Amino acid sequence: MKSSFIHTLRISLVLLFVSAFSYSQAEGINGDATKGEQLFTKNCTACHALDKKLVGPALKGVVSRLQQDQGLGREWFQKWIKDNVALRASGDKYANQIFEEFGKSEMQQFPNLSEQDIDDVLAYVENPPVKEEVKEVKAPVVASEDNASGATNQLLMVSFAVLVALLIWIAFKLNSLVKLTQQEEGISELDEEKIKSFADFYEKNQKLAYGILTIVSILALYGGWAMLFGLGVDKGYKPEQPIYFSHKIHAGINGIDCQLCHTGAKYGKVSGIPTLNTCMNCHRNISEYKGEYLESGKTREFYTGEIKKIYSHVGWNEETQSYSNPQKPIKWTRIHNMPDFVYFNHSQHVVVGEKAIMESHNKKHPEEPIDVVCKACHGKIDTMNVVQMANDFTMGWCIECHRTTKVDLSNGYNAEYFNKIHDKLKKYKGEDVEVTVDAIGGMECGKCHY
Ligand code: HEC
Ligand code: HEC
Ligand code: HEC
Ligand code: HEC
Ligand code: HEC
Ligand code: HEC
Repeated sequence: MKSSFIHTLRISLVLLFVSAFSYSQAEGINGDATKGEQLFTKNCTACHALDKKLVGPALKGVVSRLQQDQGLGREWFQKWIKDNVALRASGDKYANQIFEEFGKSEMQQFPNLSEQDIDDVLAYVENPPVKEEVKEVKAPVVASEDNASGATNQLLMVSFAVLVALLIWIAFKLNSLVKLTQQEEGISELDEEKIKSFADFYEKNQKLAYGILTIVSILALYGGWAMLFGLGVDKGYKPEQPIYFSHKIHAGINGIDCQLCHTGAKYGKVSGIPTLNTCMNCHRNISEYKGEYLESGKTREFYTGEIKKIYSHVGWNEETQSYSNPQKPIKWTRIHNMPDFVYFNHSQHVVVGEKAIMESHNKKHPEEPIDVVCKACHGKIDTMNVVQMANDFTMGWCIECHRTTKVDLSNGYNAEYFNKIHDKLKKYKGEDVEVTVDAIGGMECGKCHY
């Protein structure tokens, strides 16, 4: 009984294994096509498509093709993709032949891809999974904040309209009064009546008028107060951009690394918005949106239209595949913008502070751990179609984090500078004292202000 159970289990495991890998069994490549697709999009789409020739050859079915035509196997692909220059230099016949065929245009080297990564990519290009017919993905309804502030705005608009109407009405009435008093031969009976009726009307409706005025004033005060209160706090700020660029589609679904586009974050003070040339690295080839994901209310044609906007800005002519059309510069609307008197340095946080910030964040929010440091401050950008300010970016916010984040004393940079401070603190406060950023100067006005 038991052994037959184990036997069945074993068979089903084997079946499971075989079915999981059957698509990549050819050539002994055991790769995960789903992971491979991500890697392919990220690393290869700048030069390769599956079924048409771009800078490099079409790659669909390349593994079996080269095995049949050239007798090449997994080893060759591993070497070629990791470092095609070395492979050519080693005198490999086919490597040199294909290089010549493609006009000696060099393929990029990928020393960072592991053997498994390469197997994954090969599994994907050898046998790309057939895409299912696409279902509409409904974006969750974003509740509260937006709608609430929208409602407040509407209320304000209405009260202003009422106020303006009231003022115009009063001005009009006053005007007719003035006209009447200016009439030379005194006030006729008819006019007398008019004045009387206005006085009556005013008397009768005085209470109503006061009531309206009071309500309007309260609303205006409330509006002013809300505006003052929110001054400089732009959390939730979410402007429209000249191209509908979705971080969810790029950084989320296609797994493109933040720093591929925001290259400055690592080394510089500012992180920067990529130039359209960076976009063209991929979009010379990706000219249409074929993704499965659709934000509710958007169509594939819409996304494709947005991609074409890149072309019109950089002057790319799709017919001739050249930059021959007139260019027009693009102006992204800046979302995060500290006042000039504040000094904020990305690299201090993204490189030196990376480990400390991530550990501290994940300890504070174990339910929502982050995988890249950027998200500690910018929120889950990779789930946003439109970038939205995720924190209020005030002085209090900077300080709060500096007070509660332990400095990473293990990194070389800090070890050298702060171990003395650490030793001193240990003397005063005991062995297990923790050094937070405020202790190393994170509260000094001069560090954050010019
Ligand atoms: C910068 C452009 C570029 C990038 C990026 C690039 N390739 Fe290539 N690839 C080429 C070119 C060009 C060739 C043709 C050979 C040559 O000119 O060296 C080529 C050839 C190949 C070949 C041989 C195909 C054949 O039919 O013989 C394979 C396989 C290949 N690339 C895989 C990849 C993979 C996988 C990636 C991503 C990890 C990748 N390439 C990224 C430009 C690129
Ligand atoms: C393919 C390129 C690309 C990738 C990948 C990318 N971004 Fe962006 N990012 C942009 C562009 C273009 C803008 C400007 C348009 C906009 O605001 O959406 C931008 C804007 C931003 C902004 C707002 C900048 C401002 O104006 O204040 C932040 C913050 C940001 N990105 C963070 C990230 C993070 C975090 C990641 C990784 C999870 C990431 N980006 C991945 C291209 C990219
Ligand atoms: C410690 C918090 C923090 C972290 C971590 C962080 N940022 Fe920022 N980011 C900011 C602040 C603050 C600003 C506003 C800077 C300014 O206006 O001078 C900003 C601005 C930006 C901008 C707008 C353009 C610019 O450079 O000012 C982009 C893009 C951006 N960040 C991307 C990133 C990316 C990508 C990462 C991760 C690699 C990242 N940020 C990590 C706090 C952070
Ligand atoms: C590393 C490659 C890569 C880079 C760089 C890149 N994109 Fe994309 N982009 C993609 C992929 C992949 C898709 C999805 C295509 C699909 O699913 O058919 C896409 C889709 C799009 C779309 C349609 C979906 C959407 O986000 O609205 C637009 C518009 C777009 N990209 C604009 C840009 C802009 C602007 C830049 C430069 C700031 C840029 N892309 C840089 C790979 C890239
Ligand atoms: C998510 C946490 C976090 C936030 C938010 C944050 N910081 Fe920091 N900051 C750190 C960490 C961690 C360090 C220490 C890095 C290191 O080990 O040197 C640091 C260091 C600094 C330093 C260097 C301090 C020194 O003594 O060398 C400055 C300046 C600074 N931050 C400015 C800012 C400003 C300005 C803001 C707000 C716009 C801000 N930080 C927001 C985590 C944060
Ligand atoms: C960790 C960084 C940091 C430190 C330390 C810091 N500030 Fe600030 N401060 C900021 C940021 C960021 C802003 C801009 C906030 C905004 O735009 O909402 C700011 C704004 C201000 C303002 C303008 C008023 C306001 O709230 O917008 C004053 C005044 C100011 N700081 C004074 C000081 C003084 C005095 C010290 C020392 C006791 C100090 N700051 C220390 C980051 C810092």
